[in-house]
Amino acid sequence: AHQWRGVIAEYADRLPAHLQRTVVTLGEGGTPLVPARALSEAVGAEVSLKVEGMNPTGSFKDRGMTTAISAAAGRGAKAVVCASTGNTSASAAAYAAAAGMTCAVLVPDGKIAMGKLSQAIAHGARLLQVDGNFDDCLVAARKLAEVYPVELVNSVNPDRIEGQKTGAFEIVDALGDAPDIHVLPVGNAGNITAYWKGFVEYAQDGPASRTPAMWGFQAAGAAPIVAGHPVTHPETLATAIRIGNPASWQQAIDARDGSGGLIEAVTDDEILAAHRFLSAQVGVFVEPASAAGVAGLLRLAEAGRVPPGARITVTVTGHGLKDPQWALRTADGDEVVPVRVQADVVSIAHALELD
Ligand code: F0G
Repeated sequence: AHQWRGVIAEYADRLPAHLQRTVVTLGEGGTPLVPARALSEAVGAEVSLKVEGMNPTGSFKDRGMTTAISAAAGRGAKAVVCASTGNTSASAAAYAAAAGMTCAVLVPDGKIAMGKLSQAIAHGARLLQVDGNFDDCLVAARKLAEVYPVELVNSVNPDRIEGQKTGAFEIVDALGDAPDIHVLPVGNAGNITAYWKGFVEYAQDGPASRTPAMWGFQAAGAAPIVAGHPVTHPETLATAIRIGNPASWQQAIDARDGSGGLIEAVTDDEILAAHRFLSAQVGVFVEPASAAGVAGLLRLAEAGRVPPGARITVTVTGHGLKDPQWALRTADGDEVVPVRVQADVVSIAHALELD
């Protein structure tokens, strides 16, 4: 039986040769593209979800971390650093552990989800909570890497983009061609940059006949690209994309304009509604930021802006278990309390209203 070997081995012919020298992999990539019937019905199109929560550390970051850490290992690096809203730190910590490297992570004070914090600590990262937001952390991490012997593994590192473009390859490989529209959340804008690169390369080299329109969605309280200027105090419950000054801003604009796509904003309420829809009606549990793309798709469908019958793929970026607290509130914001019963079948049947 074929065992998936991770993105560097699987896409060796489409990645730079320097990544092959010392491959550090946890078997990332090869994630399912799941047809989403309820979502397709809701928006009047043919929608599939690229479920990136199925990666080894539970987010899409692993695709870019295998390449960034392999490149660093190939150069003999001993230490890496990243700024993170959580998932990058979890991924960097895991791949650094596998490579036997030291990993330093800078996270915004008090604003990262418990699951991600636990992962970074479990994998042995030197975790510093910085008095500032993600943008402050990234500025500090870049300077640290310039001056000290540590390599930066944020998505401004081109090796990260090379790895993450494989998400687009897998979608085309699964569908047999590019979708009409590809949807994803936008934070620091590395992933939209990477997917666009992947789609463009596949269209140029043959596997796809065309490129999709790229539809990116930011959280309304952290939507600098939509506003056209940096946001000094970004706020959203989708902490993964709580970013006010994305590093790959221009690349995101290029992806939007080069693809005939769009970048718009969705509110936290729309994100939570999409999160609930995905969990309860599609069967896919994601973290809030990952629901931003679906929230945007639902919003545009409501406005009559989704072409009927279009083939649409949506990257849902991270696993619901990263940040599970949001499932424990109703749509009205009430806390969900489990029903207690006696351990007898009559009480249980009664509680389930089967009698
Ligand atoms: N979804 C999730 C779950 C994320 O963790 C991120 C980014 C994004 C979407 C946005 O992707 O930044 O490439 O536009 N998380 C980074 C981190 C910032 O530090 O984990 P992007």
